Amino acid sequence: MKNLHRPVMIKEIFSFLPTNKSLNVIDATFGGGGYSKSILEKLNINELLAIDRDPITKIFSKELENKYSNFTLINDRFSRIQEIVKDTKLKEKKFDIILFDLGTSSNQIENSKRGFSFNKEGPLDMRMGLTEKNAFNIVNKYDEKNLAKIIYEYGEERYSRVIAKEIIKERKIKIISSTLELSNIVKKCVPNKSKKSKKIHPATKTFQALRIYVNDELNELKQSLEKTINILKNDGLILVVSFQSLEDRIVKDFFNHNSGKRWRSSRHYPEFPDNKATHLKIITKKPILPTASEILINPRSRSAKLRVAQKL
Ligand SMILES: C[S@@+](CC[C@H](N)C(=O)[O-])C[C@H]1O[C@@H](n2cnc3c(N)ncnc32)[C@H](O)[C@@H]1O
Repeated sequence: MKNLHRPVMIKEIFSFLPTNKSLNVIDATFGGGGYSKSILEKLNINELLAIDRDPITKIFSKELENKYSNFTLINDRFSRIQEIVKDTKLKEKKFDIILFDLGTSSNQIENSKRGFSFNKEGPLDMRMGLTEKNAFNIVNKYDEKNLAKIIYEYGEERYSRVIAKEIIKERKIKIISSTLELSNIVKKCVPNKSKKSKKIHPATKTFQALRIYVNDELNELKQSLEKTINILKNDGLILVVSFQSLEDRIVKDFFNHNSGKRWRSSRHYPEFPDNKATHLKIITKKPILPTASEILINPRSRSAKLRVAQKL
């Protein structure tokens, strides 16, 4: 199987990575291995621990595992980052760099059998790894209120109620079993005016919502970020590339809260407690965005935002 994923903002990421010392690194979202490969090739690496919840990533890690004895990939969820470290030979170690490149890889999206894509015929699945939930069960079994809530909360879709109503109507006639069936139902619910004014496909937000819910992506991120603080060295860096606003707000709030700022942008994040310790220094006051030339070569990078913080 060929790796179809083109790493995003790799130049920008490298601009933060120290070149003058030996590093312990975690690549928490291995994907097709683009970041790990470049890091192993270009930097002085003591250990590189990679994580990905998708078992297919083992295919892409083989070459690196054969070439580098200081590289390991663990198939697990990054919300268990601290536990994963404890279970490896690295349990006594702390890390200089922890990297997250969130969302799905092209290897997942381009594989129609995984059901991530609204314009490729496939089963309604959307699981990144082994999870109990899948998109088929949600679309065919959840009640209207719950469906609307998921589509609104995780997709920020203003037509969530109309879409939920239409899903319920359609599934009474016939089980909704494929991505294109769902995509066509959603298309009918988004008014023409709205379709024209936005460049994005009308089913984008509904598919994003289902994917986030199926994989519990926001909780995964929150839990994982909290744990990174315990396994980073002093001066160590957390770098996060996110692709949609719900994730970016979680990262921004986490950095703000742990660097002494009270500001809270997301209702998904708890209130800032008065006695919270300061663990981080924010390195990127504003998120770094991909260059126009990267977006031209790799349109999937267009919504990427990179934020970096340093442990104090
Ligand atoms: C954008 S891709 C990473 C691409 C990678 N940086 C590269 O250069 O090839 C995101 C990867 O993160 C994985 N992932 C997403 N959420 C995860 C989680 N909670 N735990 C572990 N892996 C996760 C996905 O399975 C996917 O392979």
